[in-house]
Amino acid sequence: MRNYLILLFLSAFLIVVKGEENEPEFLQPFLKFIVPVGHNVTFRCEFKNLGNFKIGWIKENDNKLVLALGSRMITQDLRISANLNENFYELYITKVDLNDSGIYACRVNTDPPKQQIGILEVIETI
Ligand SMILES: *[C@@H]1O[C@H](CO)[C@@H](O)[C@H](O)[C@H]1NC(C)=O
Ligand SMILES: *[C@@H]1O[C@H](CO)[C@@H](O)[C@H](O)[C@H]1NC(C)=O
Repeated sequence: MRNYLILLFLSAFLIVVKGEENEPEFLQPFLKFIVPVGHNVTFRCEFKNLGNFKIGWIKENDNKLVLALGSRMITQDLRISANLNENFYELYITKVDLNDSGIYACRVNTDPPKQQIGILEVIETI
């Protein structure tokens, strides 16, 4: 009986410890944006359990351009900004041009990295 209780206690403890090791998870799929030139776009990536992992915005085409790491901007493009909150991470692109079209990824540095991608298609105004 006593060993049984100890075992029960141990497994409860392990569940708690494992719970704290939860890896980040994305909560919502992205949409595909189709917008005319000159409009603004906001990508929003919702997640939980970020913990001490790092998160960033990456543009997938070309040569995997890192746009932002957390709230620190890496791109020199002043039209682009990022905003990191506890449960979500946003990328704002103002005045989109045709060459902003492509795949945008919100990525965390888990091993292997987890990411969520969104597509932006900028179309010419008629
Ligand atoms: C886009 O964002 C800029 C800067 O925040 C703002 O001045 C502008 O009015 C916005 N344009 C549209 C089409 O919403
Ligand atoms: C995108 O196109 C605009 C105007 O056509 C140009 O000024 C800008 O340099 C281009 N940006 C890139 C990253 O090619």
